[in-house]
Order: sequence, then structure tokens, then C-alpha cells
Amino acid sequence: MITKTLNNGVEMPMLGLGTYLSKDLELCQEICEKALEIGYRHIDTAQMYGNEEAVGKAVEASSVPRSEVFITTKISHKRYSDAYESVLESMKRLRTDYIDLVLLHWPFADTYKAWRDLERLYAEGAVRAIGVSNYNADRLVDLIGYNNVVPAVDQVETNLTCQQRECRKWMDTYGVAHESYAPFGQGRMDEIYEDKVLLEIASRYNKTPRQITLRFLLQEGVICIPKTVHAERLSENFDVFGFTLTEKEMEALRSFDKASPLIGNPERPERVLKALAW
Ligand SMILES: NC(=O)c1ccc[n+]([C@@H]2O[C@H](COP(=O)([O-])OP(=O)(O)OC[C@H]3O[C@@H](n4cnc5c(N)ncnc54)[C@H](OP(=O)(O)O)[C@@H]3O)[C@@H](O)[C@H]2O)c1
Repeated sequence: MITKTLNNGVEMPMLGLGTYLSKDLELCQEICEKALEIGYRHIDTAQMYGNEEAVGKAVEASSVPRSEVFITTKISHKRYSDAYESVLESMKRLRTDYIDLVLLHWPFADTYKAWRDLERLYAEGAVRAIGVSNYNADRLVDLIGYNNVVPAVDQVETNLTCQQRECRKWMDTYGVAHESYAPFGQGRMDEIYEDKVLLEIASRYNKTPRQITLRFLLQEGVICIPKTVHAERLSENFDVFGFTLTEKEMEALRSFDKASPLIGNPERPERVLKALAW
């Protein structure tokens, strides 16, 4: 497993398992356990997913030591006013006495209070790294400018048609690691997997177009957390090492970028209102 060294020296596995919409808690636990068995060492959850307990049970039941598993959770904007306490509750649900990475889930509501709570948890050693999610470049630069700890990670929608080049420029400027959510566009861009160029590259390596997508993102230095609740797909999504795309292939894949998010664009006021009502 390749890792990314975060801006505070913490090593983060670059491929992990996403759990958004893994609402069947028994299945979520089973899939997380299976993932650890296959070799995954990184699981992404959130207070809003309602499955932190299933993730915690899976890590506890697995033969992999807790110290070898990287767990990320995210604070719901509904808990920004008592973010500190909410993380302690997450820790209980996750059956752990520390969390590897905690993110502010969205740049809405009282983010400054929540960030200062996170800075406190980080200083106390309860959390190994802190970061943000769904932060566009302007919000990211603003947060960095007016606080002490620079986020270690920004988790934003990133896939073939939304490569986040502008935001990435600013992440690189401040040493913030780029993490992709929805690397497969949450199943809303499946027609892309019929694309001739993508299929041709995939056939060259005897891989699937989704494996090429993950490989492309990893080679771009992007941390990926594809979600699945199917064991065979867990293996497929993990089998993206041991080959390297050429610069020409990388260029061809870069040209898929339309710079337009499919899922959560925090720049649209109606999206902000929808999330606040969530
Ligand atoms: N920070 C945020 O606001 C935010 C937002 C969204 C997501 N996330 C995180 O990022 C993770 C990944 O994003 P996502 O779950 O939204 O979307 P995603 O990983 O892009 O796509 C998941 C979808 O792809 C399907 N899939 C997965 N592997 C496949 C394969 N090999 N072949 C065919 N279909 C496959 C899954 O179906 P099955 O499950 O049925 O296999 C599911 O429908 C989430 O789970 C979550 O942890 C964060």
C-alpha cells in the first residue's frame, strides 16, 4: 500500500474504503472486515453516515491491529457548535481512543468554532490529523489565513470529469493533501466507462475502466476512497498497483476533465440550503 505523508508527518494510505450509503449496518461491518482481510488499511466514515459503530466493530473484530488501520470520520455541520464533544462521541462509536483523521464535513454553519475544537483535539493527541471536506479554494485559503493549524487534507469530489485542478493548485501551495470522494461519480457517470479511449487504455493493462480511473487519480497524487458493498468489487478496486500509466495516457485522461462537480458543489447557495436542511 502506498501512503501519502501529510503536512504533519502522518502517513495516510492512499487507497481506502468509502462507506457513504452503507446503511445496512451488518453489511457495512461485514464489508469493512472483508476489506481489511483483502489488504485495505483505510476506512472513511462520517457522523452523518450513521455507520461509525459498524466500522468500529469491524476494526475491533479484524485480526489487523488498530494501529495499522487509518480511520477518517467527519463532523456533521449540525454538531459544529459542540464539535469537541461530538468527536468524543464518534470515538466511542468507533471503539477507539484516537482517530487518525477528522474532517469538517462541509464549509457551512459555524466552521470557525468547529475548527478551533478540532485544533484542541489535535493538540490533546485525540486526533492524529485534522482537515476539511468540500472546501473550494477560497474557503480553504480563508481558513488557513485565520487559524493556526493548516488542514492536512481537503476531501473534495474528484473523478474523471471533475479533476479539481484549480482547487488542487491552492492545496499544493499550502501543503494540503488532495483526497477524492466519489471517484466513480457515485454511479452517476457510468456512461464514461464505455468511452473508447478509456476502454483502450484499460485493455492495454488488462484492467477495467474503473481500475484505470483509480490508477490515474493515484498517479496524480490523489488519495482515493471508492465505496462498494460487493466483495468482488472490493478486490477489483484494490487491484490498482503493479502497473504505471504512461505520461501520454495520463494526458489523455486529463482531457476528460470538465471541471464541473456532479454531486456537491458548495458554491451554489441552493446546495448550501439543502445541506443545512439535511
Ligand atoms: N465528504 C463528502 O461530502 C463525501 C461525499 C460523498 C462521498 N464521500 C466519501 O467518499 C466515498 C466514495 O464516494 P461515493 O460512495 O459517493 O461514490 P463512488 O465511490 O464514486 O461510487 C460508489 C458507487 O459505485 C459503485 N461501484 C463501486 N465499485 C464498483 C465497481 N468496481 N464496479 C461497478 N460499480 C462499482 C458502488 O456500487 P456498490 O456499492 O453497489 O458496489 C456505488 O454505487 C464515500 O463512500 C464516502 O466515504 C464523501
